[in-house]
Amino acid sequence: MTPTLTEIQEGTTKLLVPVEEKLLKKNPVFYNPEMEFSRDISVAATRVLKPENFCDLLCASGARGVRIANETGTPVIANDINPLAYELIKKNISLNNLNDTKIIASNLNAQELLTGKNYDFIDVDPFGSPVHFTDSLFRSIKNRGTLAITATDTAALCGTYPKACRRKYDSQIFHTEYYNELGLRVLIGFATRNSLKYDTGITPLFSHCTRHYFRMYLRVRRGSKYVNENLKNIKYIQHCFSCLKRVYRNLDELKENCSCGGKFNTAGPLWSGNFADAEFCEDLAAEIESGIFNTKGEAQKIISKIKEEQEIHVPYYDIHKICKKLKVPSPGMEKLTQNFRENNFKISRTHFSGTGIRTDAGINEIKEFIIN
Ligand SMILES: C[S@@+](CC[C@H](N)C(=O)[O-])C[C@H]1O[C@@H](n2cnc3c(N)ncnc32)[C@H](O)[C@@H]1O
Ligand SMILES: [Zn+2]
Repeated sequence: MTPTLTEIQEGTTKLLVPVEEKLLKKNPVFYNPEMEFSRDISVAATRVLKPENFCDLLCASGARGVRIANETGTPVIANDINPLAYELIKKNISLNNLNDTKIIASNLNAQELLTGKNYDFIDVDPFGSPVHFTDSLFRSIKNRGTLAITATDTAALCGTYPKACRRKYDSQIFHTEYYNELGLRVLIGFATRNSLKYDTGITPLFSHCTRHYFRMYLRVRRGSKYVNENLKNIKYIQHCFSCLKRVYRNLDELKENCSCGGKFNTAGPLWSGNFADAEFCEDLAAEIESGIFNTKGEAQKIISKIKEEQEIHVPYYDIHKICKKLKVPSPGMEKLTQNFRENNFKISRTHFSGTGIRTDAGINEIKEFIIN
């Protein structure tokens, strides 16, 4: 069924998008207005990276690909398997007067589009999990190219459905108060473990958890040097539900009991390194600042937090959760921050949670600072 369309604007691009009462996978063509933030970041990231070409592998209405073609100098291939989506992509290309040196619409199965081809930037924005696409992505991405990958199956990644995480991501997970950080780290870890067999390493340029989805931008490099570097960042996390201690460990370092007497629960394998690159965050923020983006304010706040939180890799601590355990009221953030700094501990906020802090202090020190 042909969808009823309405014209909207994202960035400086006009888009015809379906009018739908509900956002459903079975809608004739998919368009999610809530993902504008993610598309804004894509435009800014492409302006920073200036890839030779951009493959929007699963582009639905073409919202992202058409924006990239219109708002950056990069040539785009915009693909979707759905014939109705393909018709809409072509309409959106015409609406913005883009010719075929700027963007080409394609109506192929993603695997078919990628087979035997190489791209400098591939964007994958699937319904749910990206796991079915990852092998083809690592085969088709150029050396030093970028993969941008979305995952919306947060219930699997964050520990609500541990079996689904095991099946799809080959990783063990359980639910903690920092569930969203663990989910992102499982996702990056999975992508890394997939890339290794192609003698390819990854560097996370920028990753974020926003509303119902995860998104990561990975710079890809061929060579065993990069693979070996990546292997150092594939670890397990041990979490104690009694005292809330959490620690990264290698497989041969895992312990059964925590020093508090509680038992450790183990999640992983997962990524224990930076999930963004500080310099890339700065470039991204500068592009956002100088461009026309409806989500500019939100983007600046998130980029700044993500840049700041890369110094410490141990997952964030949720102050409310610790206070509940201690049966004390939550302290003011300013006073708490001051306590950490006066005692020479690092402390930053996190984009994952308004009540989270990231610090190199251990759980016992954190508890002391909260009480005093
Ligand atoms: C979540 S939507 C993409 C949304 C889009 N990136 C945006 O920003 O609006 C996922 C799209 O993937 C398409 N799709 C699913 N499987 C595919 C495949 N194997 N090959 C190509 N397209 C596929 C669907 O038709 C759907 O339009
Ligand atoms: Zn413990």
